[in-house]
Amino acid sequence: MEAQVELLLGQVLQFDQSPFDAPPEQAARHTPKGAVAVQDGMIVEVGDADALRRKYTSAQITDMGDALLSPGFVDAHVHYPQTAIIASWGKRLIDWLNSYTFPEESRFEDPDHAMQIADTYFDLVTAAGTTTTVSYCTIHPESVDAYFTAAQARGLRALGGKTCMDRNAPDALRDSAQSAYDDSKALIGRWHGQDRLSYVITPRFAPTSTPEQLDALGSLWAEYPELLMQTHISEQHEEIAWVADLFPEARDYLDVYERFGLAKKGALMGHAIHLTERERDRLKELDASLIHCPTSNMFIGSGLFDMDGLMKQGHRVGLATDTGGGSSFSMLRTMAAAYEVGQLSGTALHPAQLWWLATAGSANALHLGDRIGQLAPGFEADIIAVDLGSTPAIAQRAARGEDIWEVLFPTIMMGDDRAISAVWAAGRKLR
Ligand code: GUN
Ligand code: ZN
Repeated sequence: MEAQVELLLGQVLQFDQSPFDAPPEQAARHTPKGAVAVQDGMIVEVGDADALRRKYTSAQITDMGDALLSPGFVDAHVHYPQTAIIASWGKRLIDWLNSYTFPEESRFEDPDHAMQIADTYFDLVTAAGTTTTVSYCTIHPESVDAYFTAAQARGLRALGGKTCMDRNAPDALRDSAQSAYDDSKALIGRWHGQDRLSYVITPRFAPTSTPEQLDALGSLWAEYPELLMQTHISEQHEEIAWVADLFPEARDYLDVYERFGLAKKGALMGHAIHLTERERDRLKELDASLIHCPTSNMFIGSGLFDMDGLMKQGHRVGLATDTGGGSSFSMLRTMAAAYEVGQLSGTALHPAQLWWLATAGSANALHLGDRIGQLAPGFEADIIAVDLGSTPAIAQRAARGEDIWEVLFPTIMMGDDRAISAVWAAGRKLR
């Protein structure tokens, strides 16, 4: 017997192409009274509500009224172990890592602590409308088990990996070249491809790995070329100077990763703020993904990501909270920060561009652009309903809006988890 169809009713926003490649409003289609038909965890049809109601006469109807139906948000770079230290005051990157991050990450040796934080993390992000996350875990394999266990229990698509560090970190947070390779490989076997879970090879960043460890992880990636690899690049000037000191033979930061087989398509390069011309050109040539983390870049004082220039150059760009260097779990707040960073750089990003970055854009950056991030037939039914008048301040501004973009923008700029009125993961209602 065929599984029952569920029809979700609401406003629908779809993208026919990237709003960075076309006039933003022409790239999108808005259906004020729309419907999404879901069956067996997948989207089977999207269209006009009346037409789909006539077609799917025996469907179960879930009417979300005027709420906007959207793909769940895709957060392309997070550190779930930093959940409990988000919004820690002061300090620049290296000092912040030493003062707050490393002491907290040391606690993940305890599987109970890891499980408790993973559950808290997924409760917070799903409440904020995020249905896919890509996380750094800690050096402890138990932290990866906790992350994937919590995601799997919720039916979420999730990506992540054991953070590898064999120098410039406290003793309790150091592995070795060999154990990083062995542990990562065992975790790939345990988790990669189970349900909607994907393992990501995760050297934290060049300063915390010896050349031997980077080499071992480059070899591991060569063994599993279908995997993604995540790391950080060119976030702060002090960090870049440190990398130059540690790797005097490298031309620049990116060259360190290139030398060890860690720069290619499928690389997720976090931050990518202070890139040289050579690095920009080479990253484009490699088709590596650049992950913009705007709340983090402002919170830690890192700098302004050149969205306009990099998009014009044709880079593959995703958007991320960078929890807990980032100051929010919400991709709405993250879109607002991307807008503010754009303004400080002389470019006002259109609401369509912001929404696309948080959904299809991030999905493309993860090479999952044919499975998640869009409301279209054949996509996984990770869907959220967004209340476009979730607070009195937002509602009174949205009431003046003359088109969907004017109505949506106040939620982008002022919205939070109160705007998320329902969340479905693979068609199953989560909240
Ligand atoms: N660079 C290396 N590790 C980290 C981290 O945990 N957060 C941020 N923002 N940057 C990093
Ligand atoms: Zn990070």
